[in-house]
Amino acid sequence: MMSFSPDGPPPVLRFKQGVKTTIDVTNALQEASVVHWHGLRIANRMDGVPYLTQYPIEAGQTFRYAFTPPDAGTFWYHPHCNTLEQMAWGLTGVLVVEEAQDPGFDRDLPLNIRDFRLGGDGQFIDFFKPRNAARGGTYGTVSSVNWQVDPVYDLEAGSLVRLRLAVTDVTRVGAYEIAGAEAQVIALDSNPLPVPLPASGLILAPGQRADIALRVPDDESEEVRLVLNRPNGAKTMARFRPKGSSLHRDLRELKPLPPNPVAEPDLENAEILDFVFGWSPEGDAPQSSQCGSLGYTFWSINRVAWPGDLPGPFDPLARLKLGKSYILRLRNETPNDHPIHLHGVSFKLLRSNKRELPPLVTDTALLRSQETMEVALVADNPGDWAFHCHVIEHQKTGLAGFLRIG
Ligand code: C2O
Ligand code: CU
Ligand code: CU
Repeated sequence: MMSFSPDGPPPVLRFKQGVKTTIDVTNALQEASVVHWHGLRIANRMDGVPYLTQYPIEAGQTFRYAFTPPDAGTFWYHPHCNTLEQMAWGLTGVLVVEEAQDPGFDRDLPLNIRDFRLGGDGQFIDFFKPRNAARGGTYGTVSSVNWQVDPVYDLEAGSLVRLRLAVTDVTRVGAYEIAGAEAQVIALDSNPLPVPLPASGLILAPGQRADIALRVPDDESEEVRLVLNRPNGAKTMARFRPKGSSLHRDLRELKPLPPNPVAEPDLENAEILDFVFGWSPEGDAPQSSQCGSLGYTFWSINRVAWPGDLPGPFDPLARLKLGKSYILRLRNETPNDHPIHLHGVSFKLLRSNKRELPPLVTDTALLRSQETMEVALVADNPGDWAFHCHVIEHQKTGLAGFLRIG
């Protein structure tokens, strides 16, 4: 097992919005790695993408990351080198950036949601199957929350709890629900929602997060559950039990979370950039590197297959001028879902040819089968920013690239 902590799940990292943080990462693996801070809009050289923003951290080496998180919310961290294998082993941690002002919860509870691919003997099995990588991806066999199967949390009766769901799985797109209590989704992918959403039918894809305000029931006999609704039936992922005499709190006591300082795109003057997510072009030979190739290419962005984690020579998919607004038109011509993730800048959902979209600001948008979505951003963070599907088998078999800002 690989871990960011000697025993159990990776530690929840807690930083403060606007406060400089330094993290020394020592690589105690037998292979190279890097750490990427998913969703943080920080300087490019701190983004943790091998060859694009830094050299891999070799076994035994230490790399110092230092940055000031501009946004508050729920984020996560993971390697970006031999990504499928290192994440499959367990290197996926939750990262919290706290608001400058206390939002008034009685408790803050991160829930790191992911599968592990284990055989009947509890040992790891093959991380992927090529035929799955060419489709929806290879699912794990054991679903967990904070590395436990169906854990039970005791919460103060009648209290207000901030659940921070982070889907750090490499494959699974799931529909989640809080059953048995009053609960509201107050932020998605670290950005507060202008109007809270009901905590049911909440679709979360790999890389996505949701902050849920939970009002714990008053009575100890009640039980609250986090449920994953799968095509083959509902599965309880975690349970929450009220304890003690009720605090009698009310969800309406919570002040709305302050929006993050993400620049508003100028839609009138925005340039449109087209991206097509499709199959891999024919005759593309897999390459390998020390950051791990899966040995296949199945996917592409704008007909180019970049098998992830590789050194160049690859050209940026697009060059964006610093400070300018852009509309990215994301077209999925495949029958599979792709959670499309951009590093370094957040973007706003504008519209889709398939459904109504809330005006969300995000770093990871789930592009459904055959969907075309338009999103907008201000190119305000200079550098080469990875742009890829967060189903890691897709990322590592071609559905990856980068945008150059500046
Ligand atoms: Cu969460 Cu490029 O990654
Ligand atoms: Cu990222
Ligand atoms: Cu994908």
